[in-house]
Amino acid sequence: MRRDGGGCVLVLLAIVLISYLSVSNAQVGLPKTGLVRQFYKKNDTCADVEEFIKHQVKLFWTKDRSITPKLLRLVYSDCFVTGCDASILLDKPDNPEKKAPQNIGLGGFVFIDQIKKVVESRCPGVVSCADILMLAARDAVHLAGAPSYPVLTGRRDGLQSSAASVDLPSPSISFDDALSLFESKGLNVLDMVTLLGAHTMGSTRCRYILDRLYNFNGSKKPDPSMDKTLLDELRNKCPPKTRKGQTDPLVFINKNSGTKYTFNNSYYSHVLNKQAVLGIDQLLLSTEDSTDITQEFADGFEDFRRSWAFSMNKMGSIGVLTGTKGEIRRNCRLTNADNPIQ
Ligand SMILES: *[C@@H]1O[C@H](CO)[C@@H](O)[C@H](O)[C@H]1NC(C)=O
Ligand SMILES: *[C@@H]1O[C@H](CO)[C@@H](O)[C@H](O)[C@H]1NC(C)=O
Ligand SMILES: *[C@@H]1O[C@H](CO)[C@@H](O)[C@H](O)[C@H]1NC(C)=O
Repeated sequence: MRRDGGGCVLVLLAIVLISYLSVSNAQVGLPKTGLVRQFYKKNDTCADVEEFIKHQVKLFWTKDRSITPKLLRLVYSDCFVTGCDASILLDKPDNPEKKAPQNIGLGGFVFIDQIKKVVESRCPGVVSCADILMLAARDAVHLAGAPSYPVLTGRRDGLQSSAASVDLPSPSISFDDALSLFESKGLNVLDMVTLLGAHTMGSTRCRYILDRLYNFNGSKKPDPSMDKTLLDELRNKCPPKTRKGQTDPLVFINKNSGTKYTFNNSYYSHVLNKQAVLGIDQLLLSTEDSTDITQEFADGFEDFRRSWAFSMNKMGSIGVLTGTKGEIRRNCRLTNADNPIQ
């Protein structure tokens, strides 16, 4: 039974990946959204935009490698709320997306501003902030050690930030609730396990893991699914209570990656070895399918990176605006209505 279940997932993975890599425009398995490869080249509006962006990302990354996890978080936070329409980048009016508790600590906005400035100077008024974000994230992950992959483009920018309350999952969400959230966006368990691979790098605040360290699920004991050595290390870095005025310490969610911000499949071996820092990551072992996929990705980078390319494009197609919908913002922080030409 166990082997059958896992086999299905892996065969499905193989079919999806072969289709993705061999069919032009990568439409098989991806929702039909109107996005295409090399939109700005095909449309003859900004043929070299991907080169301009890549160059800027490289300049930034050389100075501050933390831009990779920052951009990945921006993509995720943008796509999961109103769709990948760059609404997360809006400053005005009070943007409930930016203000949501789960989005405190988002970074990378200045970096997007800089790329947008360069792109506008070369190709004014045609490249969306939503596409810039997706392309920059791809390039930043590439610099961190993952192979590059084609990103479908042709998104347009949203005209407003989400008015609805923003409900991104907290790090202590249950596996079932996390999966339901992904499914509500048209993503499946394979996408979820794949995209959580973003946790191969970056850091978190102690407050998000204190329950695992001291009082798991109200038990007054640590999470039994955490490796003892890791538990001791983390308890050392994260005392049960921070003293008044003391800032909540940052801990790397993958100590091998740490300040090097390398991107590889080591995340999956850590999960298998009970060495995940965030609760949601350790929960990948709570179902058969997700365990099998975790095992598969731990065994080799190749499957993971292909799946990553596919799932990033799938996430990147959530709720996109194309054609004549939305607009191309002149400034990623402002809608054009809020930013009239002087
Ligand atoms: C947490 O505690 C509740 C109630 O005691 C229990 O039903 C549930 O299974 C526990 N969850 C985990 C992940 O241990
Ligand atoms: C992933 O990168 C880290 C940091 O560079 C390194 O220690 C580790 O060996 C790598 N893991 C794999 C599986 O390549
Ligand atoms: C070029 O862009 C316009 C506006 O988004 C779109 O309607 C048109 O289909 C695009 N042309 C091509 C060849 O992609």
